[in-house]
Amino acid sequence: MDVISALHNRVSIAVLGGPGPDQAQLEVMLRAAMRAPDHGVLRPWRFLILEGQQRQWLGDVFVEARLQDEPDTDEDALAKLRSKPLRAPTILVAVAETDPDNRVPVLEQIIATGAAVQNIMLAAHALDIGAMWRTGGMARHPHVKNALGFAAKDEIVGFIYLGTPAGAIKRVPEDDPLRYLRSLPE
Ligand SMILES: Cc1cc2nc3c(=O)[nH]c(=O)nc-3n(C[C@H](O)[C@H](O)[C@H](O)COP(=O)(O)O)c2cc1C
Repeated sequence: MDVISALHNRVSIAVLGGPGPDQAQLEVMLRAAMRAPDHGVLRPWRFLILEGQQRQWLGDVFVEARLQDEPDTDEDALAKLRSKPLRAPTILVAVAETDPDNRVPVLEQIIATGAAVQNIMLAAHALDIGAMWRTGGMARHPHVKNALGFAAKDEIVGFIYLGTPAGAIKRVPEDDPLRYLRSLPE
């Protein structure tokens, strides 16, 4: 697959089944991540892989986080939250392990991690692995960061759900890219 074709045609895959990526495929994706633009070559990104029972554990962590904030949350809502990490066989948690004292602003460290995630998304697409980038309130929750082994200053940039596409793959929406181009008067 050529790069332009991958860039133009990648879509998110929300419905994912097994198997998840194997070790060789993971390595290809992480190698792609390493080529993200990275101000100061800080390598701010970390990728925590969760598979099998570890996804159940993440669901429990989500529930604990919600109960800290809203102790009266009903069982249905908790069950829904608990099951979220089960939507794919593999989750890569992409975290910017930020250095607030570095001359490179934290925002740029987070952007670099986002660029690394996009490289993973594209590599997954090229390998026919389905991928969906998700965040939500749990990505910002200090209890979740702490349970995953990160500090409150660090940023969970995404939960990258990976697996085998299940169901129809959506079409790339029609849009005019030039709509987003601005130019100054001559
Ligand atoms: C930082 C970030 C966080 C996102 N979080 C969510 C999310 O929590 N839930 C969701 O449905 N989509 C989320 N998305 C959007 C999807 O991953 C996806 O990009 C969007 O649905 C458009 O689909 P496409 O990638 O096929 O164009 C997020 C995207 C980004 C960049």
